[in-house]
Amino acid sequence: MNDIDAPPSDGPVWTIVLAAGSGRRYGAHPKQYELLGGERVIDRALATCRAAADHVVVVLAPGEDATGERLLDSGAADAFVIGGAERSDSVRSALAVVDEDAAVIVVHDAARPLASAGLHAAVVAAVHAGADAAIPAVPVVDTIKRVRTDTTGELVVGATLDRSELMAVQTPQAFRAEVLHRAHVDATDATDDAALVEAIGGRVVIVAGETTNIKITGPDDLAVASVLLGTLG
Ligand code: CTP
Ligand code: MG
Repeated sequence: MNDIDAPPSDGPVWTIVLAAGSGRRYGAHPKQYELLGGERVIDRALATCRAAADHVVVVLAPGEDATGERLLDSGAADAFVIGGAERSDSVRSALAVVDEDAAVIVVHDAARPLASAGLHAAVVAAVHAGADAAIPAVPVVDTIKRVRTDTTGELVVGATLDRSELMAVQTPQAFRAEVLHRAHVDATDATDDAALVEAIGGRVVIVAGETTNIKITGPDDLAVASVLLGTLG
């Protein structure tokens, strides 16, 4: 039997929380340490992961060892590692410390502090049900166009994409552990882990994402998250 079709074995769920980015699009302060409703963005993300997983590994930027020690002392994480230059490098740093008996590995961006425990449970359940990977996604509401720079140097439309075929993808993303390890063997970079699983022929299923599960990316997103937090109760 092809490995990729094998059902997941029972065993612990490990969650990797990525917090090693520098937040270039956000601006002045590393966004994962900003306060949201009186709690740091990273702490909110970690608390949900802690409730939903058996083990939590947090990935931090170089120089954040003291932060990592504090997260271990507080019980927010079981381990911390220092990440790499690209997001996928950071995932690989964490994979090196995930126990061999892990059955399911979840990868979550610390920059998504509003993902619910129910969403974590849903992606894990889809992997237990037989998927190689399960990722949350929401319908695209804007019209999406492919653009290019023309010969005059102006940005122009190349094509309008069929929105009914498009979805916006979020984290947490859950993977059969063996599949995620295999997807990262080639050390390529991608903006999410599911893309690497797709590249090795894995079956990636979609679960309903949450419109409130925004990623803190630009300077306005913390204010939006703060409003959304109020609606989540
Ligand atoms: N991340 C990481 N290691 C990297 C790059 C990103 O752990 N080398 C993490 C970020 O901390 C974030 C998540 O991956 O939680 C999603 O990345 P993104 O939103 O792009 O965050 P940054 O890379 O920090 O932001 P930017 O791309 O604007 O610099
Ligand atoms: Mg980035």
